Amino acid sequence: MAILVTGGAGYIGSHTVILLKEMGQDIIIFDNLSNASKEAILRVERIVGESIPFVQGDIRNKDDLSSVFEQYDIDAVIHFAGLKAVGESVSKPLKYYDNNIVGTITLCEVMAKYQCKSIVFSSSATVYGDPETTPIKEDFPTSATNPYGRSKLFIEEILRDIYVSDTSWKIVLLRYFNPVGAHPSGTIGEDPLGLPNNLMPYIAQTAVGKLKTLNIFGDDYDTMDGTGVRDYIHVMDLAMGHVKAIEKIAQFTEVMTINLGTGNGYSVLEMVKNFEKASGKKVPYTIVPRRAGDIATCYADPSYAKEILDWEAKKDVYTMCKDSWRWQSNNPNGYKEDV
Ligand code: NAD
Ligand code: UD1
Repeated sequence: MAILVTGGAGYIGSHTVILLKEMGQDIIIFDNLSNASKEAILRVERIVGESIPFVQGDIRNKDDLSSVFEQYDIDAVIHFAGLKAVGESVSKPLKYYDNNIVGTITLCEVMAKYQCKSIVFSSSATVYGDPETTPIKEDFPTSATNPYGRSKLFIEEILRDIYVSDTSWKIVLLRYFNPVGAHPSGTIGEDPLGLPNNLMPYIAQTAVGKLKTLNIFGDDYDTMDGTGVRDYIHVMDLAMGHVKAIEKIAQFTEVMTINLGTGNGYSVLEMVKNFEKASGKKVPYTIVPRRAGDIATCYADPSYAKEILDWEAKKDVYTMCKDSWRWQSNNPNGYKEDV
């Protein structure tokens, strides 16, 4: 029996594959490499000390998927594959709906055909929109302000409908807060294409000298220092959340919706300070106007994950920064050959 990891060459998928292999699971990575490189898989193989089956294919392509289900005895899918750039989703909504929603529908159709009905899905805290209060619990109202977030909301609903139609499905919706950090080896990590959209890779690339200065989007929020507050979670902790979800999935008798966060909020300025301490480098910054669509504060109530998955985040913000820095400083150009 094996686990199919869609998007397994990407940032969170590659870290999760390592932990799954360490737990003795058979894994097949399925990825179209639209936002990842083969080099990431080679490095994962080096870390785990064995080769991992990899199929380059698209989740929107039934033939690509069917050939994997024909070849391997797959009993569960961890579904990371998706596009995730919020800004791009606003300018290219159909690309996001096609890739994320059509892709997930196609995946589920093929799974059903092969009687594989267990899926762990990568959702996001973005589905809470602008929450009225924090910490955020799973039963808070949901909304979306952009096509990326809407694709996550729609997929959650589609998966719930699939369960209503056939309760033999086992479905876990994991709502991630802000994944950061890297594997402690410093050989794999987040490698955004072009200018980073997210805070941590932007800070890391500024510290390493690739970017001149960090733009801090607003210092007039109603937070401790005026900058935005988020729940940063180490990617290895997040990966462990998936291992626990897979271990327990057979027991679930309803669609499980679970926050994966630490329960702690840190401001942008606090992250900059922690990163400077962890890296020994200065991170020059400029305060600029707020980014459209941003909210002041977002952090999880992670108690349901503790209760249901026996999981909690263990790594602190300093370790997140230290591990991000190790990856960034060892690989200033990410997975690309040094130029
Ligand atoms: P990522 O871009 O590094 O990984 C996604 C992977 O999916 C990439 O390797 C990409 O090549 C692959 N992919 C995309 N479309 C595909 C398709 N049609 N067929 C096959 N493969 C395809 O992103 P990530 O940060 O690892 O995120 C993984 C998942 O978690 C995504 O669904 C994302 O929306 C979700 N998520 C991420 C964050 C975050 O901040 N990183 C937060 C919340 C949720
Ligand atoms: C962003 C996405 C969200 C997604 C999440 C995790 C937007 C509007 N939202 O959220 O949908 O689920 O990433 O992938 O893109 N910041 C700066 N300067 C920067 C970058 C960020 O000051 O160059 C600030 C932001 O204003 C925010 C914090 O840093 O206060 C974190 O930003 P980011 O890493 O982009 O995550 P989110 O805003 O939580």
